[in-house]
Amino acid sequence: MPHVLDLGCGDAACAYAIKQRWPNAHIMGIDLDPMALHLIPPFVQALQADIRALPIIEQPAFNLIIVRHPDVFRRPETWKKVINGVGRLSQINGYLLVTCYSLPEAKLIGTWQPNQSEKNIKLVPKSVYLQPNIIALPDIIGHDRFAFVWQFF
Ligand SMILES: C[S@@+](CC[C@H](N)C(=O)[O-])C[C@H]1O[C@@H](n2cnc3c(N)ncnc32)[C@H](O)[C@@H]1O
Repeated sequence: MPHVLDLGCGDAACAYAIKQRWPNAHIMGIDLDPMALHLIPPFVQALQADIRALPIIEQPAFNLIIVRHPDVFRRPETWKKVINGVGRLSQINGYLLVTCYSLPEAKLIGTWQPNQSEKNIKLVPKSVYLQPNIIALPDIIGHDRFAFVWQFF
């Protein structure tokens, strides 16, 4: 059963695409905003928490961690910190998918990466796409045009 974590999930709209592809997936969504968490699909485990304070999750490690359309210009320090520290929540061979809409956002995200103190990382070849690859299904990536996929090993 794949374990998926959606950080800053908002209404977790991409959870439907995940469920379609992996019906048995366990999906956890974390957001600070209680209003957003009211809107998430019933099959998503909601957690109201500050993602700057990870780890806070007693959970088997995740196969896929999603940071979908983070508001990187509004909260650059938040997202930099999240991307930097998220590796400890991933399984070996797990993935981190970060999506964004615009080239300026992609350029900024491209200056960040998960730190390698616990796990090694590799940017999945050709994972920075104008259109999503097979990991970033269209419904997951939404209107975003760029996807970064790192693998932990
Ligand atoms: C631009 S929205 C993207 C929402 C969703 N991922 C999507 O694709 O529609 C950014 C989300 O990050 C959440 N967020 C921002 N800072 C946060 C923090 N420190 N802890 C938890 N969630 C946070 C906001 O509440 C918001 O829902």
